[in-house]
Amino acid sequence: MKNKVTVVGAGNVGATVAQRIAEKELADVVVIDIVDGLPQGKALDLTEAAPVEKHDARIIGTNRYEDSAGSDIVIITAGIPRKPGMSRDDLISTNAGIMKNVTEQVAKQSPDAILIIVSNPLDAMCHVAYDTSGFSKTKVVGMAGVLDSARFRAFIAMELNVSVENTHAFVLGGHGDTMVPLPRYSTVAGIPITELLTRDRIDALIERTAKGGAEIVSLLKTGSAYYAPSAAAVEMAEAILKDKKKILPCAAYLEGEYGFNDLFIGVPVKLGTNGVEEIIEINLTDDEKAALQKSATAVQELKDKIRELGA
Ligand code: LAC
Repeated sequence: MKNKVTVVGAGNVGATVAQRIAEKELADVVVIDIVDGLPQGKALDLTEAAPVEKHDARIIGTNRYEDSAGSDIVIITAGIPRKPGMSRDDLISTNAGIMKNVTEQVAKQSPDAILIIVSNPLDAMCHVAYDTSGFSKTKVVGMAGVLDSARFRAFIAMELNVSVENTHAFVLGGHGDTMVPLPRYSTVAGIPITELLTRDRIDALIERTAKGGAEIVSLLKTGSAYYAPSAAAVEMAEAILKDKKKILPCAAYLEGEYGFNDLFIGVPVKLGTNGVEEIIEINLTDDEKAALQKSATAVQELKDKIRELGA
């Protein structure tokens, strides 16, 4: 393949990201993990599926960052997942250390790569990757809004018994309990859902979306979601690799946009070859602005905690 994507973390999210990238023939894939044998085993298994799945992507599993050199994109999924009853924020001290270490190695091997951050707590982990890599703000982007919007879309489609392909949704803010689903900008075949559903039903779907990750954690009991998170990360990678200029909700570094400074938070961005090519500012009502402010405050608190931890 022409492109090279490194996936750090060979757990469920990382391995499924590798599978989706290979099966879509987007790039050759390097899977890195600290556990000896795990990335090698998963990569070999995926390679042996290739003849049946009919793709020629090369998939390598390794414990050495040298093998990731010259990647176009590095998708970082490394870190511990939450257990039932935990919030994403409870992962902060463990995952901040892992993110710092991973980013140092990755940035050394692939100084021109675009980093897609997946580990939780997402927005705070973007700060660690941004600070540690020294990369420009266009080259560090977090995956959350696509996942949260996909959940909202799935629930809208179930509720109205329509094709998921007819649905569009926007979820902004941090990837946490304070995320901000925007019904006015969420549509079915172009029709805002505010015209199709009662306020009560919309509120119920919003509540389920905001707690979507926890719902899966409590069902699985060990580990967190990975099919939808991996699909979301790969949609972002595809937009970058194919220079699609796709507008997606992603965690991006804000410098004044939406009134926030020096903060990663979920907003609509344009993704292309250069990474975050544009941040799109949409008009928000006073209530929506207040919800986004609350979400930003929650992210800011985590960011401050990370600085205290010295990560
Ligand atoms: C979720 C985790 C991965 O939302 O953040 O499922």
